[in-house]
Amino acid sequence: MAALVKLVSPWRFHRFARASRAALIPCVQLHSTASVMGASVEEFNTAKEKLGTLKNDPGNQVKLKIYALFKQATQGPCNSPKPGMLDFVNKAKWDAWKSLGSVSQEEARQQYVDLIQSLVGAEAPAVSAQTAGSSKAFQTLLVTSEDNITTIRLNRPEKKNAITVEMYNELIEALDLAGKDDSVITVMTGNGDYYCSGNDLNNFTKIPEGGLEEMAKQSGELLRRYVKAYIDFPKPLIGVINGPAVGVSVTLLGLFDVVYATEKATFHTPFSQLGQSPEGCSSYLFPKIMGAAKASEMLLFNKKLTATQACEVGLVTEVFPESSFQSEVWTRLKAYAKLPKNSLALSKQLIRGVESERLHAVNDAEVERLVERWLSDECMKAIMSFFQAKSKL
Ligand code: COA
Repeated sequence: MAALVKLVSPWRFHRFARASRAALIPCVQLHSTASVMGASVEEFNTAKEKLGTLKNDPGNQVKLKIYALFKQATQGPCNSPKPGMLDFVNKAKWDAWKSLGSVSQEEARQQYVDLIQSLVGAEAPAVSAQTAGSSKAFQTLLVTSEDNITTIRLNRPEKKNAITVEMYNELIEALDLAGKDDSVITVMTGNGDYYCSGNDLNNFTKIPEGGLEEMAKQSGELLRRYVKAYIDFPKPLIGVINGPAVGVSVTLLGLFDVVYATEKATFHTPFSQLGQSPEGCSSYLFPKIMGAAKASEMLLFNKKLTATQACEVGLVTEVFPESSFQSEVWTRLKAYAKLPKNSLALSKQLIRGVESERLHAVNDAEVERLVERWLSDECMKAIMSFFQAKSKL
């Protein structure tokens, strides 16, 4: 994957955008007056223009998806010969196009428009929200408020949205603001091909003056406040899991009210592999949600679940095909966000409130155990081996 990231670099993406624009011209001439199902040719062309204005690299998987939808919309199903195994980039593009199977050109056009709109939407309102009176621009998040929905989008796609200390603090603040704003529901999702790769392991390499003990203590306090922000979140919180999820981004899902996932998402909590222990109230909520045995497979033995498996055990509410994930989920969320705000918030508080005290106690106990684990030889060795493996690449 790292190799692919480097091969499909941002400048190539813009070059691809320009090339695609040129390739579009015959399509405009052919279809400009045709009446079609789904997005019109004009909407398709507008989306194509907007693609070139994106400021953030949406990640390789999304770029491949854009490429595939463009080819399907303009040329129909993939009919070109399969590139050789060693032609990695063209093979990845060919696979992405081929995976669309017999999706019609109209449907591909619609999906293309939806996808570009969601990417552009994630950037534009964030800028206006940040300039329109709010006190602080987020460095690691894109936060937007639209259609009664506040969306918090993890935004370090080049690092698979790994959570740095800064990002933890920004997430706490963003959740606090979202809990108090006028939105009806709050959505958490990721930018790029990952939802989140969990705690940024570099957090363990920044040792403060007081040494390792002080680092563990400060990290524990930060984690306690972070999980508390989810336990106390006052309105419906919905996870839109756009890709693989690791570590704390998985354990916290038990505190979400609804979790929608693309079929390409996976759910992995490699704590014992890292000499650590579970957090996010998962030591209590996972056995409750999926039963002790399934929870132990995940939390003790690092079992990675597919989206379908996560849905079967009740961690995920519903799984969607990748091709229609964004459009189906957002259509649904927009409808939810039209429901009466207070009724939703009060009902959520009834469902969750009864457990609140226990969840805070679980959070305290999990943090206490982790502070101890972070200072253990087992954990130190595991973190060192992650960085050693990286340095050998
Ligand atoms: N902490 C720090 N850096 C991370 C990270 C994490 N949790 N997850 C990803 N990254 C970084 C990688 O080091 C890499 O950085 P680089 O470009 O400077 O080398 C970049 O993000 C891209 O990741 P890469 O490893 O090249 O992508 P991949 O698709 O091959 O693998 C993961 C993705 C998530 C499987 C892999 O990065 C990984 O195992 N990360 C650690 C996950 C983890 O253990 N989280 C803590 C759980 S408690």
